[in-house]
Amino acid sequence: MGVMRPVIITANWKMNTSPADAGPLAADIAKATDVAGVTRIICPPYVALAPVKDALAGTDVAVGAQNVHAEAKGAYTGEISASMLAGLVSWCIVGHSERRRDQFESDALIGAKIVRLVEAGISPMLCCGEQLDEREAGSAVETVQAQVRAALDVVMASGQGLPSDLVIAYEPVWAIGTGRTASGADAAEMADAIRATVAGIAGAEFAEAMPVLYGGSVTADSFGEFINEPAIDGALIGGASLKPDQMAGIAATAAEAAAGRAGA
Ligand code: PGA
Repeated sequence: MGVMRPVIITANWKMNTSPADAGPLAADIAKATDVAGVTRIICPPYVALAPVKDALAGTDVAVGAQNVHAEAKGAYTGEISASMLAGLVSWCIVGHSERRRDQFESDALIGAKIVRLVEAGISPMLCCGEQLDEREAGSAVETVQAQVRAALDVVMASGQGLPSDLVIAYEPVWAIGTGRTASGADAAEMADAIRATVAGIAGAEFAEAMPVLYGGSVTADSFGEFINEPAIDGALIGGASLKPDQMAGIAATAAEAAAGRAGA
């Protein structure tokens, strides 16, 4: 009998919304996704964190950041540290493929970010995923396992151990914002591979209890294929997460899956 993992839907708004419109949008999404048994997280841009936090007061929707700096403080002009985020967010995404691509973030840097988040009491959501050529060459699993291992090795080297609230989001790079998704079966195979890697670092029990999400062109129509896989515990949603009706559909499907898992 396996552990019951939470079903999680996370909105990644990326570089969209303004401080003025983010609060009302978050409130609309909170209302549209108010279902039983599903953990909801909204990750707006930094400048919209405070209005979104205010708009979500009185709901159980959590607020997350999209990134954090790898150092605790100091001369890093324009950067945001984990301790600055501590009062504003309970979650933070790290290692998103757009940052790996545009800011050349390495696995080691991403691991250091997780260490900072743990110090600040913020739950980390670690993103990983292969490029199209890696999938086509048959090295997707190896690539993703290496990403996860390299980032988490840094966390282990810090002496912290892995945080019990760690979530991993598998997002094939070729599926992000393209309208193309992985198959449910491929995503589930990758979730198993990720758990095998984490089990090698922190033990099978830890890996079994750790949620793994799928991300990459998730919509209300496509989400069912993923959440119907027992290895997949939810989604990290980009484009569709700015649309309350899409989020409503995803939440409804998530609630059905959560109820099914609780009854299983
Ligand atoms: P997408 O983005 O849903 O727009 O593909 C997902 C993500 O990058 O987290």
